[in-house]
Parts: sequence; structure tokens; C-alpha cells
Amino acid sequence: MDDVFETAATDARAVFLRDVLKGLSEARKTLPCQYFYDAAGSDLFEQITTLPEYYPTRTEIAILNAHAGEIAAALGEHVLLVEYGAGASTKTRILLEALPSPTGYVPIDVSEEFLLHTAQTLRTDYPDLPVHPVVGDFMIRFGLPSESKGRPVGFFPGSTIGNLSDEDILRFMSSARDLLGDGSQFVIGVDLRKDADMLVPAYDDAAGVTARFNLNLLTRINRELGADFDLSAFAHRAIWNDTASRIEMHLVSQRAQTVQIGGRTIPFEPGESIHTENSRKFSIDSLTPLFEQTGWNLNKQWLDERHYFAVLLLSAD
Ligand code: AVJ
Repeated sequence: MDDVFETAATDARAVFLRDVLKGLSEARKTLPCQYFYDAAGSDLFEQITTLPEYYPTRTEIAILNAHAGEIAAALGEHVLLVEYGAGASTKTRILLEALPSPTGYVPIDVSEEFLLHTAQTLRTDYPDLPVHPVVGDFMIRFGLPSESKGRPVGFFPGSTIGNLSDEDILRFMSSARDLLGDGSQFVIGVDLRKDADMLVPAYDDAAGVTARFNLNLLTRINRELGADFDLSAFAHRAIWNDTASRIEMHLVSQRAQTVQIGGRTIPFEPGESIHTENSRKFSIDSLTPLFEQTGWNLNKQWLDERHYFAVLLLSAD
């Protein structure tokens, strides 16, 4: 591929090993959720988005379809769409097709193979649209590809913002503010608080796809870092933490065991967990102060009729 940009020139494997050892050395073990998305993990996530229990994707797509004209009108002409965590870019197509004259698309994703495949498919489907993929972690500061043109608009769908702590939201939104610039706009999808009865199955589906997605992180660590996790000795758990207003995903050790990674021995007690992901569920009122602190105002909002999910339009002014 000729024009792939990277957010950071690092030895990806060394960074992965460092992050894994750091997380597994804490008193409460953790692993960073961006590592879910190797090729297999990205595929499993795409399967999650079509599960009957996983309401966010279909709800957000319905909101975007219902209001695409209004959203596109608010964004205006000559939009350079910059998508954080682009994945399969399914939702992007709704915006691209509604926008009057998009000048380019910059998808950013950690999963290189997946990103480049998506970019190629979009180039085929939209031959007049310049596509400039950026491979990397969107939490790392990066510049827009120099040949990209138009008025940058941020797009952060899927409630991926729910993976971030308040501190990370502030960091992310202020670097997006710097990157996109004065007068820019930002379209963000946010999953809203709802009953635990609905949330827990969305992260612990009957077909076991989310369990496979969670466990794939250990498969990836075994393959890429030469570790020896026994996959049958860890179980997927999804817990609703009401105080923190988040779903937590864990991998729970089913017995006392040790795991070798990069010359280190990591001990596990029976029942000890590795916390692999937070998926926060927001009220719009709790988010607006964080946006305002980083120079973003809430201009418009679109919700489904059950108020499961919201698409917010922010502007930097
Ligand atoms: C891609 C982060 C939005 O939190 O719902 C889905 C990831 N994890 N099932 C989410 C996920 C388990 C997803 N995000």
C-alpha cells in the first residue's frame, strides 16, 4: 500500500509486551482493550455487532439512517471525514452517501490488515473519494495526511468513547480539538445508561461470541509474545458496575496457575481476574462538561425512541 500513515513509529511488539507485563503486574490485573483488535479480534467484533443481544450497532445505524440528511446538512460542504477506530466503516458509508461533496476520508485504526482492506473496499465503491488510512492508536497524537483536503470533521461512532476514563476523554477530545481545528465539528456515538438486564447479555451473548472475543486476547498474547496461557483455564465474565456506570469484561482464572510471558512468571489465584475492558454507559449531561472543558460545544443530538443510544454533534468554537 502506497499511502499508509502511522500514528507512531514504534516497535509494536515491544510496546505490546511492555503494556501486557505492566497490566499483569498490577495488584488488580488488567490488559488494555485496544489489543482485542488483531485480525481475528476485528472479525469477532464484526460478528458481535450483528448478535441479537448487542443492541448498540443496529441502534446507532438506525439513528444515522433516520437523520442522515439533517446530519449532512449540519456538516456542510467539502467535509474531510476523520474516523477514530474505523473498523469496517459501515456507519461511515451512511454519512458519505448523505454528504453533498465530501473531499476525503481518513480512517484511523490499530488493526492494519483490517484497515487497509476496508480502505481498498471504499476506494472501489467510491472511486472519486480520496481515502488516506492512518494505522495506529488514536490516543497517540498524529497529524492529518498532507494530501488530505477539506474541512476536517471528526467521527467517533460505536460508543468507543465508553472504553475511556474521564481523564482519557479529556486527553482525547483536546487532541482532536487541536487536530481538527477552529470551527470544526465532531460526530460522536454514545451508549446510554439502561437496565442491567439488557446490558449484561449484550456483553455475554448466548452464542458465546463475546467470550471468544475476550479470550482471543490471550490467544494473541500467546502467538505474538510467546506466552503460554491455557485458554481452557480462563472464563469470560461480563459484570455491570452500577456505581461506575459501566460494563466490565474480565477473564477469570479457573484455578491456581502460572503463565510465562517474556521471561516473567505471572501467578494467578483461583478466581483471580484480568480486567480487560470497560464499556461505560453515559448520560448526555455527564459528558457535556468534559466536552466543554476541551473546547467542544454540544450543538445537536439525535436519539432512538427508546433512548438506548445517542448521536451527538459537537462544534469547536
Ligand atoms: C467497540 C468499545 C464500543 O464497548 O460495546 C463489544 C467493544 N466489547 N463487546 C463496546 C465490545 C465487547 C465495544 N466498543
